[in-house]
Amino acid sequence: MDSILVTGNGALSGQIPIAGAKNACLTLMPATLLSEEPLTLTNAPRLSDIKTMTALLQSLGAEVSTLQDGQVIAMSSHDLTSHTADYEIVRKMRASNLVLGPLLARFGQAVVSLPGGCAIGARPMDLHTEGLEALGAEIELKDGYLHASAPRGLTGAVHEMRFASVGATENIVMAATLAKGTTVLKNAAREPEIVDLVECLRKMGAQISGEGTSTIEIQGVDLLHGATHQVVTDRIELGTYMLAPAICGGEVELLGGRLSLVGAFVEKLDAAGIEVEETAKGLKVRRRNGRVQAVDVTTEPFPGFPTDLQAQMMALLCTAEGTSVLEEKIFENRFMHAPELTRMGARIDVQGGTATVTGVDRLKGAPVMATDLRASVSLILAGLAAEGETVVSRVYHLDRGYEHVVQKLEGVGAKIERIKS
Ligand code: UD1
Repeated sequence: MDSILVTGNGALSGQIPIAGAKNACLTLMPATLLSEEPLTLTNAPRLSDIKTMTALLQSLGAEVSTLQDGQVIAMSSHDLTSHTADYEIVRKMRASNLVLGPLLARFGQAVVSLPGGCAIGARPMDLHTEGLEALGAEIELKDGYLHASAPRGLTGAVHEMRFASVGATENIVMAATLAKGTTVLKNAAREPEIVDLVECLRKMGAQISGEGTSTIEIQGVDLLHGATHQVVTDRIELGTYMLAPAICGGEVELLGGRLSLVGAFVEKLDAAGIEVEETAKGLKVRRRNGRVQAVDVTTEPFPGFPTDLQAQMMALLCTAEGTSVLEEKIFENRFMHAPELTRMGARIDVQGGTATVTGVDRLKGAPVMATDLRASVSLILAGLAAEGETVVSRVYHLDRGYEHVVQKLEGVGAKIERIKS
């Protein structure tokens, strides 16, 4: 298994290009199942999660091919052969469940494995199934698989979600595009990836309004067409690399970044003493003089502070002046990076969903282990500013969500290399 060697090397400067959003691409790809005509995505990120979704769509009989070194994904679902998402694929990646809504809408049936537990928490599917049942689906659990059917087709309904789940919103919206009549989804998630999905569905002929607010209205249509759509910028990759100059000092411009994607995060950076400026090309980030200041952070659904940036923010706060309290409200077990950061000299006390971080002057390099995608990049960020060498092992987690991480950080002056094993 490969590992990454990082050596603390002082201030960074230069530009980092930000890729298309993994999480947007993972919901846009299953949208191909809604139409017989081709769907083409541009600005796609080159990641192993995208390969997993490709394999899943192909296992259903969809044609998927890539152009421009993977940045363009062309798909066609004119001749599907299966409506079963197998456990062997779903267990690798929870986002596989995003085929449920589209398959059900187009074929009136879908069989999708339950994802099972993952490192950061239980993550059940009840919010997805409740929404689809409100549209008339019958769903039962057999042998670890959700068997969904809509013998009389799906019918629009008014449904209020108990929690604004991102994936459930995406599945319900996709299903409702082909339902009979109007669906009103209340307490919908408002993430930019959902807005991106709706923009693509609209190009395919769907009639949807209210995306980006907590009420989305979908007027069902008989069929959807082909389309070409550019994947929105990855706000989590953006936020992650914004933290590199924040942690190391210097000034870095994140190409393609926009403030509207990272508002709550930028507010916390500002309080910590990090300046962010919107430019014609993206976002420029620099650290004000002096030490980073402690700030308290609570993760929330968008537009709140994203859970997917909590681990990376913790890496910054490990060397801040003062004590920061981080509260994780989205996932029950998302502090596995804390003991690894502690190995590098951080002072972190975790009690349930709260981590209290007391800043130290400097972290020290150490061998550490990545436990999930965002945790792994937080260890790299910490290593960039630590004294000496940090070796991050199990980097296959990283490959799920960050393309060309070594090249991107090397490009701004970091000392980082991938060690093949
Ligand atoms: C998406 C993102 C993930 C991000 C998360 C929260 C993708 C591919 N992944 O995941 O990176 O961390 O949003 O911003 O877009 N829940 C239930 N029942 C359900 C569904 C969810 O209880 O049916 C719970 C989950 O266990 C979790 C919370 O709701 O505690 C949030 O999950 P959700 O918003 O659904 O996240 P995902 O769509 O899985």
